[in-house]
Amino acid sequence: MVTLANNLLSIKSLSGSGTKSEFNYVWLRDNCPCSECFHPDTHERTLVTATIPENIAPKSANINDSVLEIIWNENNHRSEYDLDWLRQHDTSQTFYSDDPAQGEMTLWGNELQDSIPTYDYTDLRTNDEILLAWCEAIRDIGLAIVRGAPLEEGEIERFADHVACVREVIYDRLHNVRATPGAYNAYNVASTSLELKPHTDMPNYNNPPGVQMFHFLVNETEGGMSTAVDGFHVAAQLKQQDPEAYDVLTKVAVPFRMFSSRGDVYSANPMLTLDCSGALKVFRYSNQLAQTLNISTSQMDDFYRAYRKLGKLVEASENMVKFRLNSGDMMATNNLRVMHGRTAYDALTGDRHLQLSYMDYDDVLSRIRMIKKARKHGKS
Ligand SMILES: [Fe+2]
Repeated sequence: MVTLANNLLSIKSLSGSGTKSEFNYVWLRDNCPCSECFHPDTHERTLVTATIPENIAPKSANINDSVLEIIWNENNHRSEYDLDWLRQHDTSQTFYSDDPAQGEMTLWGNELQDSIPTYDYTDLRTNDEILLAWCEAIRDIGLAIVRGAPLEEGEIERFADHVACVREVIYDRLHNVRATPGAYNAYNVASTSLELKPHTDMPNYNNPPGVQMFHFLVNETEGGMSTAVDGFHVAAQLKQQDPEAYDVLTKVAVPFRMFSSRGDVYSANPMLTLDCSGALKVFRYSNQLAQTLNISTSQMDDFYRAYRKLGKLVEASENMVKFRLNSGDMMATNNLRVMHGRTAYDALTGDRHLQLSYMDYDDVLSRIRMIKKARKHGKS
């Protein structure tokens, strides 16, 4: 059943299908679960991977009951692997993920208008299963609304601390957005009553905050509808319609900057940042924060052509949801993917004051894992 050849340990019918599962020797040695190689309490690797010899190989390999036992040619080290674990990590059959927070993204356009995930504030504060659903909505849809939050300043920070923790940026921990005519010293266009085109926040950071949360303390003005656009959806449309334009936006570093009396943060990254598998990882889009491009003249035409195409998709009505948020409403977006904006409003028709805070996306995924772990151990 177990054979050894060409740096591969093969097991026939590991998954009962008659096929051969293959495991690399170094990979097996690297994942030895014994207490010498992995700290039994912290689950951190204590074996130094780089010290595994190139010629590592089993002296013997046998399956007893549901365990594969290997004696290695280095120091006769003994490793035992549970066959279920090997099945789950069998890269010769399928890709796997150990991550209980993994989800499946749903791209959306205007058809989401009447089905934006919406939650009750009290439910989120008192029921972790509903909080889990909210976190999963941020992960999979990238947009969620909460109704019925207390009309108290600082509530958005308390809510962030309930979910995970606030991600601070240099400008503010808690940001106020309001336009009181003649009274507010705006340092960005959000603090005026002008239209705000769809954008992601803080693209000027190399690691922008992953989740953006807004809390409306009051919204009595005429106008000022909230808008949102799925950046991954418009990027997918661009890729399909014009792969060259998509490619340009994955390669040209666009500088973004934001500054105030407290900070001045500048960085340059592609608007479409890919992960190592080539999938879109971070969508950056902010017309107002983009700085003068520093690319060669020969690249300019291609860049502006691609940017124009993307910009038209961002503003297309079929890609945008538009909704009214009232006093006590919250909205959250996956800021690495979904753009937000608002229509213009008339600051003379009433008050409009919202507070916003950020969280890191990883900390929301962490909360998903923690709720699932608590559920597994019956603590939910
Ligand atoms: Fe914004």
